[in-house]
Amino acid sequence: MANRRIRLQNATAKLHKQIDERVADAGFFQSHAGYNAYLNATLRARAIVEGALANREFVLACFDPQRIAAAVREDLVATGGPIQSWPDEPLAISTSLAGLFGAVYVVEGSALGARVLMKQAQALGFTAEHGARHLAAQLGRPTAFRRFLGELEAADFSFSDEREMESAAIATFSVFDRCYAEAPQHDQR
Ligand code: HEM
Repeated sequence: MANRRIRLQNATAKLHKQIDERVADAGFFQSHAGYNAYLNATLRARAIVEGALANREFVLACFDPQRIAAAVREDLVATGGPIQSWPDEPLAISTSLAGLFGAVYVVEGSALGARVLMKQAQALGFTAEHGARHLAAQLGRPTAFRRFLGELEAADFSFSDEREMESAAIATFSVFDRCYAEAPQHDQR
């Protein structure tokens, strides 16, 4: 049942660890200013990824990926911004069904880590109603990832489709990694 999920987990484990370390080292959850930088970098990455997934009817036919960019923007407004803007950027993934599944794995799976980030945001004084709305939204769909995994395992993919799926997951994770790397750093240790 969990073969493709494990493939994707293995293919992206190094990048996920790198992001965890980057977020911690950048001090994004150590201060209000750090959290604003985190929100701006997250908004930038989400705009790229969610923009690429919009209007892809064949993915949406079996699973509607969560979009949280608007909630991140509301969190930026609630926490006093400022909101940065960037030029439009494409997401460099295959637009095959398998490629899209790889990207959706990343955005849906990220909700599993939202619990950890919510605790850190709460320690800074932010809540589901004020400043951490996007994390609360991710925590509000507890069965979505399991449903997604059901569709992922049921899809009829060839070996080369699975390679496209893995590459797309890596490319999607890389967008987040780059946006966090390019954000202002706020480490106070
Ligand atoms: C500091 C930042 C992050 C932390 C602390 C974190 C933490 C975690 C944790 C604890 C899990 C496992 C939860 C569980 O198994 O119940 C997880 C899963 C996951 N996270 Fe993150 N995460 C972070 C950032 C991200 C980002 C930016 C992305 C991509 C947008 C992401 C994508 C994923 C995915 C895809 C999974 C599911 C892996 C799987 O089990 O198949 N995470 N994260």
